[in-house]
Amino acid sequence: MQNLKELFFATGVIPVIKIESAERADGLAGALRAGGLRVAEITFRTKAAAGVIEKFASRHPDIVVGAGTVTTKTEVDSALSSGAKFIVSPGFNPEICAYCIEKKIPVFPGVSNPSLIEQAMSLGLTILKFFPAEVSGGTKALKAFESVYQAVTFIPTGGIQENNLNEYLTIKNVLACGGSWIVPTDLIEAGKFDAITALIQSCRRSMLGFLPLTSEMKLDNASGADADRLSSPVLELKTPSIRRTLAMLGMNEETSSSAKSAIISLGDTRIRIIE
Ligand code: 3PG
Repeated sequence: MQNLKELFFATGVIPVIKIESAERADGLAGALRAGGLRVAEITFRTKAAAGVIEKFASRHPDIVVGAGTVTTKTEVDSALSSGAKFIVSPGFNPEICAYCIEKKIPVFPGVSNPSLIEQAMSLGLTILKFFPAEVSGGTKALKAFESVYQAVTFIPTGGIQENNLNEYLTIKNVLACGGSWIVPTDLIEAGKFDAITALIQSCRRSMLGFLPLTSEMKLDNASGADADRLSSPVLELKTPSIRRTLAMLGMNEETSSSAKSAIISLGDTRIRIIE
C-alpha cells in the first residue's frame, strides 16, 4: 500500500463521511472513484459506520478507508476488525492514541493549540488533524506552527470548503484538508452519486487548476475521435474560451475540436480543454 502520508498529500482533500446505511456504500465508493478520490474517512457518527468500512475494505480495496470521529477503544476495535487503514479523532486523547499505536494502526488525533501538539508529539505522532480549523485560528495558526513544529504536518478540518481550500493547501505544513462538503449526507442518502462526483471534480479542478481524467470518469461532450483519444488518462483544463486558448497555442488547425471541447497533444501528454 502506498505510504499514507504520500497518498494524503497527493489526494489533497480527505472526504469526511457521515453515512446512515451500509446499503449506500457501493454507490458512494463509485462516486469517489469516478471523481478521482481514493481515500475515504467514514465517521463513527452513525451505527452504519463499521458496516460501511467493512464494505469499502472488502469490495473497494483501491480506496483507502479510514475511521473518523473515533473517541473510544471499542470504536478502534470495531474500525480495526472492519478493515480500517487509519484512525482519525476529533480531539487528542492520549489513551486512544496509545491504544492505536499498540495496535499498529496509524492515528491522526485532532489538536487545536501548541500544548496539544506537543502532547501528541511526545507519543511520536507527527501527522495531526487541526480541528476545528476555522475557529481555531485557521491559516494564521497553521503558519504560526510552521517554524515552531517543523516535524509536524497537519490535516486541517472544520469549516473548509472549496472557496478556502487553497488558502490551506498552499501552507507548507498542510498535508491535506479534511471536509464533509464534498460528500453531503443528504446526497448520499438520496442516492445522488453523480452530484457527489461533480462536487469532487469541481473541488479537484479548483485545487489543481486542472482535472486529471481517468477512464472511470464520465466525459461530457466527448464523442467520436475525442472519446477514442480519451481511452487513457489525460488532463482536463477549463477555460472561458476554447478558441482563444487554441489560438494562443497556435493550434487552431491541428486539433480535433467541437463547440465545447478540444483535445490537444503536447508531447506524450494529452490535454482536454473544455469551456
Ligand atoms: C470532522 O469531523 O472532521 C468535521 O466535522 C468536518 O468538518 P466540516 O463538516 O466543517 O468539513
